[in-house]
Parts: sequence; C-alpha cells; structure tokens
Amino acid sequence: MKTNHPSPQPSTLAAQGLGWTDATTGAVVLPIQPATTFIRDPDNQYRRGRSYARADNPGYDQPEALLTALEGGAASLLLSSGMAAATNVFRALPTGAHIVAPTVMYWALRRWIGNHAAEGHIAANFVDTSSLDALNTAVVPGRTRLVWIETPANPLWSVTDIAEAAEIAHGAGALLAIDSTAATPVLTRPIELGADIVMHSATKYLNGHSDVIAGTLTAARDDEFWQRLVAGRASGGAILGNMETYLLMRGMRTLFLRVERASHSAQLVAAAMARHPRIAEVLYPGLPGHPGHAIAARQMKGGFGGMLSIRVKGGETAAITTAARVELWKRATSLGGVESLIEHRASVEGAGTPVPSDLLRLSVGIEDPQDLIDDLDQALTA
Ligand SMILES: Cc1ncc(COP(=O)(O)O)c(C=O)c1O
Repeated sequence: MKTNHPSPQPSTLAAQGLGWTDATTGAVVLPIQPATTFIRDPDNQYRRGRSYARADNPGYDQPEALLTALEGGAASLLLSSGMAAATNVFRALPTGAHIVAPTVMYWALRRWIGNHAAEGHIAANFVDTSSLDALNTAVVPGRTRLVWIETPANPLWSVTDIAEAAEIAHGAGALLAIDSTAATPVLTRPIELGADIVMHSATKYLNGHSDVIAGTLTAARDDEFWQRLVAGRASGGAILGNMETYLLMRGMRTLFLRVERASHSAQLVAAAMARHPRIAEVLYPGLPGHPGHAIAARQMKGGFGGMLSIRVKGGETAAITTAARVELWKRATSLGGVESLIEHRASVEGAGTPVPSDLLRLSVGIEDPQDLIDDLDQALTA
C-alpha cells in the first residue's frame, strides 16, 4: 500500500485490499482475469513472468499478498480447499518422515493423516498437543520433520501454546505448522510466535459468506520447503478457480469487522450458555474457567473467536432435540460464515470420534447476539 502513513494497521490493509487498484482503468476492484495462458516474448522468454495459469494465476496476487501481510509471513499460496492446503504440506515431506499431530483436530484431516501414514508415506503420532509434556515426549530429535497443531482446536476448542510448541518442534529439528482457521489472522499471528507454516480453511472466516471452498498456506520464510509447497500446488493442480478467488478477495476485505463481531457475540453466547440450567458445560477459550484460557489470552488478541461448543444436559437425544428446535441458527456443518450454524458434531464424525455425544458445535455469525441467545434458550427450554 503506497501511503504517507508509516504503517497502516492490518484492518486498513484488509479493507483496502492493500490499496491495489487497476492501472489501466483506475478501478478500485481488480478485474477477474480468466486467461489460462500468456504470450511468450518473440525471443522465446516470458519476461512478464507468467506462462500458464495453473502455476501463475494473476488473480492470486492480491489475496496472497494481503494474507502474507496479515500473517506477517514471507509468501502465501491459495489452494482449492483447506484440505488441499493441508495435504500439500504432508505430501511435501520425505517418505517415512515422522510427524506429530493432535488427537483432537479437524476430523477429516486427522483421518487423512492416519490413512497417509497407514499407506507408509509418513509415520504419525497423535497426541494431546495442548499438553507440552505430551508434545515433548512425542517428538523424536533428528527424526520428527513436522509438528502440526490446531488452535483453538475443533470442536472442543482446546488451546495449544504456539510459542512453546514452536520451541519444542525446532528443538527436535522439526517445522511447526498450524491450522489457524478458527483464530484467523485478526486474532492470532502464529509466525510471530515461531510457527513456520500457517494454514487456513479459507472456506471459513477468510471468505466468510459460505459460498467458496478454498485453502491457504503462508510461510515464515521463502525457503526450500516452501518451494516444495509452491511446486506441489503447480504440479498437483489443486488450484482455486478465478470466480472463487475474486469472492475470497472480496470476503477478506470485511474480515476484521466480521471476526470482531463474531468474537464479541460468541463471548456473550458462551456467558449466557454457562449460566443456563439446561447446559452441562460450555467449551470456549474466552471463559475464565476454560483450561486453555490463560494461553489463549496471551496468543489471541482482541477476542477468542466465533466458535464454541455446548454440552446439553440429557445426553445425545437432548442435544439433537435442541438442534432440531432452533429457528435462527442453521443446522449445518462448516463455520465462519455470517450466518450462525449449529451442529451435532458426533453425528458427523461417526464411530471412534473423541467428541462427546451431548455436544453441539456453534459457529457464531454476525446477527444480533441477543437474538441468537434467545433462540438457543427457547430451543433448550421448550
Ligand atoms: C479447522 C479446519 N481445518 C480444515 C478444514 C478443511 O477445510 P476445507 O473444507 O476448506 O477443505 C476445516 C473444514 O471444516 C476446518 O474446520
């Protein structure tokens, strides 16, 4: 962003898309460029730097540069989904590499890592990464190549100390990669705390409108491993479409407003649920009684995010009945959109899930918070 202001705040950078405008027309929104291929110079060079859009999509430049600025990183990549982003990291590891990942994390990725390990590509240890002792015991100096964490972690919202995890990973010679989807760069900047790779399901808060599936990676350094990830996208082909890229960029402009509102409302919903006679437990890092509250307060600035879970008295049936009775909350999977969602998580994850059967996961949107609380109250007490 060209400005006389010494360093615009991240929310300013996001709102103005780094201040990029179209050089030809002066448009304040960059045009969608649908071309798949680019002209080669007469002397056989590609001096403009692009040959084929699978590797060189000009539409990626602005959202990637913005995300890099928001995360305080060196470079970013857009990919076709959060899963494509995460699996690109694991696929870039050498065969047989040892990795450590959380027991409780986004379930589809945990399952994918387990299968990838069972097929012999990597060796995986799943541990409670919120316990530094467990993490310390799991890493094998000289052998562990990657420690993967997610914080706050789906759907129990347990908190891992990013700075401590980075120290443990680096002490063993491993990289620290983090799924920061729930925290967003608004609340947490993991690279400043020592993380090497930050991943987002951009389907969630970065886009924020439940109308794009996308993923991102951001690197602390543009090094050899990062170049493997760049090559992994270009040759693996898990690229984001042009319309999705445009929508994601548009969504990111309102990221700060949406996340601040959702975090504020989630704190109110969590407090109301903690007082509710029909609720057995509220899992939200913003509540002082949450085991990860002190760490979350250190590494999350300006709020604790829009995600929480509630455990309904009366078990699975009471939980499913509550989800059936809400009127404003939408019974749907996913998170991070402007509309609030409610989900009986154990039904999604199936047999073997560590998620209690009385748990409902709540993604708080940007509606009036009292409307959301009233709707939960009537569903719980009906
Ligand atoms: C925390 C987290 N990480 C990763 C993913 C996967 O992202 P996507 O659905 O964009 O592939 C999800 C999706 O629900 C998620 O919630």
